[in-house]
Amino acid sequence: MAERETLSSRLGFILLSAGCAIGLGNVWRFPYITGRYGGAAFVLIYLVFLLILGLPVMVMEFSIGRAGKMNIVGAYKTLEPKKSKWHIAGPFALFGNYMLLFFYIPITGWLLYYFISSIGGTFAGMGTEEVGTFFNSMLASPLLQYGWGVIALVITALIALGGLKNSVEKVSKVMMAMLFVLMIALAIHSATLNGAKEGLLFFLKPDLNNLVEYGIGESLFAAMGQAFFTLSLGIGAMSIMGSYFSDERSLTGESVRIVCLDTSIALLAGLIIFPACSAFSIEAGSGPSLLFITLPNVFAQMTAGSLWAALFFLAMSFASLTTLIAVFENIIAYWMDMRGYTRKKAAFVNVIIFLICILPCILGFNVLSGFTPFGEGTGIMDLEDFIVSNLLLPLGSLVMVLFCTSRYGWGWNNFIETADKGDGLKFPNKLRFYCAYILPLIILFVTVKGIYDIIF
Ligand code: PHE
Repeated sequence: MAERETLSSRLGFILLSAGCAIGLGNVWRFPYITGRYGGAAFVLIYLVFLLILGLPVMVMEFSIGRAGKMNIVGAYKTLEPKKSKWHIAGPFALFGNYMLLFFYIPITGWLLYYFISSIGGTFAGMGTEEVGTFFNSMLASPLLQYGWGVIALVITALIALGGLKNSVEKVSKVMMAMLFVLMIALAIHSATLNGAKEGLLFFLKPDLNNLVEYGIGESLFAAMGQAFFTLSLGIGAMSIMGSYFSDERSLTGESVRIVCLDTSIALLAGLIIFPACSAFSIEAGSGPSLLFITLPNVFAQMTAGSLWAALFFLAMSFASLTTLIAVFENIIAYWMDMRGYTRKKAAFVNVIIFLICILPCILGFNVLSGFTPFGEGTGIMDLEDFIVSNLLLPLGSLVMVLFCTSRYGWGWNNFIETADKGDGLKFPNKLRFYCAYILPLIILFVTVKGIYDIIF
């Protein structure tokens, strides 16, 4: 077998991991859930969960990758004690990556379509209803959605074909840098709109009454799900980055940086969206359609709206594409590590798989819209999102935590030794009790409670 590829630099590792983390979760899911759960108080809980759940799990996931030097399926097999069964979690994690992309690819396609449409000035002068009609006719057309989904898929596959160092790492770096520049420019622009203040307050000044209105339990569950989703934890999408990273830096320090980058993009998205909504008196709590109906509407009313809309959807497309690239890399790494495929063959096989498997999500909005798994208005995408975000990510994270802390697993000492290799912040040994007992209980409790609430 050819020698395993590595990343060229520490910056490459941080930006590729941040690129994987920063995606629809930050720019689409975070703002709309925050809108739904009433603003700043929810943001506060979310930040706490990032710190007490997300950060330690991220260090553990990176460590598993760094020590296993492989994709997650292989890493469990390599690191588990003989005759143990931890490796059963591997295929579930791999499946989680596939399932994620089954809906992530179509939504990235929507973003590309919106970007091109904004350049063409499509939204200029449109009223609320017309933007709604635009969105709904996109959803109603399987062909249009499929076409843009395939474009997103092909871009991703071409970047993967170029190799890890020369293409995946380089392209992600450039896209991430452009994403930051665009987001900062957009946030400054939003803050200077007349009437921005109300939106800023909604987003930044906690009002506990808002939380109580939705039930604290549901808000906690949503915040935890969001913390795992936004950091890409639990299915090996991050551990693969650990497997490509050298031993030069400790993993806790790098994780802190990645969480900060991820959080800053989510906060910037909020700073762009909420002031813009209040400035044009448009309701921000509109749910998933926030990005696709509410915002084009806001842009349509702005001076130079087409330009701002185009920049905004370009930024969204970059955020989403860097995640696609990273998760696709993780998937093909499995085929290369475990089945000896070349990069080319692995990419080709997976393009075929996705050409077929993105169809249910797309058809769920039209041909198969009669299937409503969680009641009126929900579809196949919601089911796929539920399986990934509410089951595979938290349960996968739970297994990783137990694996790293239990003496029947890989164990605390191995974990600490791996995480602490290199310069930089070390993982606090004091947290052993917390990580071994409290952390798993929180994850388990919130997951079970959330599933119960959704089903009943
Ligand atoms: N973190 C990504 C986002 O915010 C989604 C993701 C989840 C990616 C799980 C990989 C694994 O969009």
